[in-house]
Amino acid sequence: MKLQTFNQKTYSLDIMYHMGAYENSIHFIFDHDSKTCAIIDPAWHADLFIEYANNKGYQITDIWLTHWHYDHTNAVDEIAKKTGAKITAGINELPYLTLKQDLTPVKNGDSVTLGHTTAVIINTPGHTAGGICYLLDGHILVGDSLFVYGAGHCTMPGGNVHKFYHTMQVLKQVDDAIMLHCGHDYGYKINTTMGEQKAGNAYLLLDNEADFVRFVDGISQGIITYPTEALSLKEVQAML
Ligand SMILES: [Fe+2]
Repeated sequence: MKLQTFNQKTYSLDIMYHMGAYENSIHFIFDHDSKTCAIIDPAWHADLFIEYANNKGYQITDIWLTHWHYDHTNAVDEIAKKTGAKITAGINELPYLTLKQDLTPVKNGDSVTLGHTTAVIINTPGHTAGGICYLLDGHILVGDSLFVYGAGHCTMPGGNVHKFYHTMQVLKQVDDAIMLHCGHDYGYKINTTMGEQKAGNAYLLLDNEADFVRFVDGISQGIITYPTEALSLKEVQAML
């Protein structure tokens, strides 16, 4: 397991990489003042995550979900049951989530708070119907809506490549300096910024819907090679 910590004014972000069968990245937000923790998309190792937070002197009070996929949610019920944590998910994702515990739906532009730390919700449908991102001071947590020089597929229930194109246009509005954190480490590097991705991520570079659809469908069909490093728009267009 690889572990990284990023320190901000009100919170720390800890990330465990390559967890479980699908090598998920698990994100923890630790609010300094309240000693509370939000865990994002917990899967595979409920007890390990609870212990990790407790050993640092924090209580998991919140579970923030980006989307319903099993590899992002399979430890949610167990953690919620053991800690009493409140579960937050995008309102349009509710029909796809099969959790036993109650959850609180959020919509685009809402804020979720953890002590003195705030995250703004950005609706990012496409990988799933109701996927959301969490924009915090200095960092954005995107689930599978973006990967480093790539992005998630649109092939599971609720996926929609046209909506995914419009999501990319929304994500391009995020400030260049914001660090991007994804649900999986599939690129050739781990740390990146939105500015770096806007300059070299094929999914963000493609500037018309038809090309984007051709690109994403081509990858799903195995006709186009999934990118793992920076490309220019010309290089991406040449792959179509
Ligand atoms: Fe996913």
